[in-house]
Amino acid sequence: MARISEQSVEQVRNAADIVDVVSGYVQLKRKGRNFFGLCPFHSEKTGSFSVNEQKQIFHCFGCGVGGGVINFIMQIEKLEFVEAVQFLADRFNIQLDITGGGRPRELISQLRDIHEFAVRHFQANLKTPQGKGVLKYFEERGLSHKTISEFRLGYSQEGWSNLLDLMRAEKFTAEAMSQSGLFISGDKGYFDRFRGRIMFPLQNTQGKIVGFAGRIFKGDDPAKYVNSPETPLYHKSRILYGLWASKPYIREADPVIVVEGYMDFLQLFQAGIHNLVAVSGTAFTDGHARELRKYSRKIALAYDGDKAGISAAVRAGYVLLRNGLNPSIVEMPGDVDPDDWVKQAGPEPILEAVEKAVDLLRFQYARAAGDKSDPAFNAGFVKTVLQELSLFEDQILRELYVKRLAEITGLKENTLFRSLEDLLRRREQRMPQVNDKVKTETLLKADSPARLKLEDELLQLCFSENHEIRKLIYDHLKKEWFASQSSRRIFDAVFIHLPSAGTPDVNTIFDALDDDADRRRLSALLMEIDKISMTVVVVKDCLIRLEKKYIDAQLDAKRQQLKSVTSGTVEFSQLLTEMDLLQRMKKNVGKLYS
Ligand code: UTP
Ligand code: MN
Repeated sequence: MARISEQSVEQVRNAADIVDVVSGYVQLKRKGRNFFGLCPFHSEKTGSFSVNEQKQIFHCFGCGVGGGVINFIMQIEKLEFVEAVQFLADRFNIQLDITGGGRPRELISQLRDIHEFAVRHFQANLKTPQGKGVLKYFEERGLSHKTISEFRLGYSQEGWSNLLDLMRAEKFTAEAMSQSGLFISGDKGYFDRFRGRIMFPLQNTQGKIVGFAGRIFKGDDPAKYVNSPETPLYHKSRILYGLWASKPYIREADPVIVVEGYMDFLQLFQAGIHNLVAVSGTAFTDGHARELRKYSRKIALAYDGDKAGISAAVRAGYVLLRNGLNPSIVEMPGDVDPDDWVKQAGPEPILEAVEKAVDLLRFQYARAAGDKSDPAFNAGFVKTVLQELSLFEDQILRELYVKRLAEITGLKENTLFRSLEDLLRRREQRMPQVNDKVKTETLLKADSPARLKLEDELLQLCFSENHEIRKLIYDHLKKEWFASQSSRRIFDAVFIHLPSAGTPDVNTIFDALDDDADRRRLSALLMEIDKISMTVVVVKDCLIRLEKKYIDAQLDAKRQQLKSVTSGTVEFSQLLTEMDLLQRMKKNVGKLYS
C-alpha cells in the first residue's frame, strides 16, 4: 500500500474546501451557518444533507453519512483513502509526497493522459483509408463535421495492437495501461480492446475523457457495442453521455430529455435540442438519477418506440421516481427511435411531444395489455406498481403515488394502502436492517439513552476550543468508561490530540476512523456541537457522571457474581471487599476535580 505523507494530506485538506468539492456533486444552499442540499447517498426530497464550512465537514441528518472532504470523495467516487487524496490532489494541482510500493504516482492523471492520447489516435484514424469509410458512414447518417469534432468521434482500426504499440512508446506505466481498460489481457499478453469500431468517447461532466464505447463498423463481432470496463476513472452507473455538453443548456424549468443511444443524442443535439443526455451501455441507475437531480427534477424519457424501449422507459421511470424526480414519457410515433424521428421530421414535433410527455403511471397503464374495465386486470396492474412503490424509501412519495394509482385505476385508496403495507412488512422481514450492527452494539453495551447522551457530550467536549476542557478530559477520562465500542474508537482517535494547543482537527480524526458508522456518529455530533455548553463546570460534571456510571456497572457485575457464590467462602468475602472499595471510589469521584 502506498502511503502519503501526513504533510501532503494536510496540504490537500487545506486546498480542497469542502463546500467547493461537495458543490461539484450536490446543489448547496446556505441556511444559517450551514449549507444544505439533497443527499447524494440516499434518496430524499428534503435537503437533509449539510455541510459546515467552518469545520469542513459534511453530515446527512437523513441517512447519517458524514465525515470530512476526503471521506466525501471516498464515498462518492468509491475510492480508497489514498486514491481519494490523489483524486483531490489532482484536482487542486498538488504534488503528493508518496512513499512505499503499490500504486504508482498519479495513477488518475496518467489514466487521463492515456485516454486523451487514445482519443487523439482514434480521431486521427478517421483520416486513414479505413477511417475514410467511417467518415462516409457518418455523413450518410447525417452527422455534421462540427458534431464529429465536438464529440470527438473516431475509429479504432482493425488489428490487435495498434493502440497498444503506440502507447508502449509513451511514458505510461504498465500499471496505468492495464488499469485504463483499453487493453485486454490474454494468453499472449495484452491486446487492444477496441478493434475496427466506431469510437464514442465518454466524457465526465468536466469534458474529460474517462472511457469509450465502440460500435461495430464492418467486422463480424456479434457485440454491437463494446464499452470500457469500470476503471478508477469510469463508473458506468453514473456517467451520462453528453452531459458535459448539455450542462450549460439545462435549466431547472425544463425537463432533461433522456435518450437511449449515442446516435440519438448526437442527432437531437445537432438538431438544436440541447437539454439532453443519453444513458450509456447500461440500464438507467440510481446513480444516473442522482446525477440528473443536480440539474433538474423534470425528466422526459425519450426511449425507442418499440416494445423493448417502452419497458426500458418504464423501468427508468421508476428509478427516477424513487429518487424523488418527476419522470414523464415521450410518446414516440410508432416503432422509431429519436434518431430516425428527428431526421424525418426535424426538431419541432419532438419538442412538442416532450411538452406533452405522459406521466409515468398513466403511460404504463395505457400501454399495459388488457381490458381496463376488467377488475382482474386492474388488480394485476396495481400489484406490479405497488411492488415498485414498496421500494421507495420516502414515505411521502409512496403515499403520493398510491393516491395517483387509485385515481388511475379507480380502486379505493385505502385498499391500496393496505396492500402496500403488507408488501412493506413482508420486505422488512426478509431484509436485515442496514443499521442493525450499529444499533445492537450501542444498545446492548450502553445501558440507556441517557448514558449514550452523556458519552456523546464528552466526545463533543473533546473538540472544545478551550484547552482546559480538553486537558481535563485527557488527564481523567479512561477509555473503559465508555460503554459503547464506537465511543471508545472515536475517543482513541482523538485522544493524542487533546493536549495540543489547538482544537483537534476533525478531518484528521475522520481519517483515523476506519468504521463508517463511527464517522457518521462523529459528524452528527460535530454538527450539533453548538447546542451544548462547553464550560469547565460542564466537563467536570460529565466526567463525574460517566465515571460513576462505570463504577455502577462494575458494582452490578459483582452483585451478579455474588449470587452464584456461596456465602462464607473466601471468594465471597473478596467480592464484598471489592464492592466496598468500589463504593468508596464512587463517593470520592467528585473530589478529584476540586
Ligand atoms: P441501439 O441498438 O438502439 O443502438 O442501442 P444505436 O446507438 O441507436 O445505434 P445505431 O442507431 O444502430 O447506430 C441503444 C443504446 O444501447 C446501448 C448503447 O448505449 C446504445 O447507444 N447498447 C446497445 C449497448 O451498450 N450494447 C449493445 O450491444 C447495444
Ligand atoms: Mn439507433
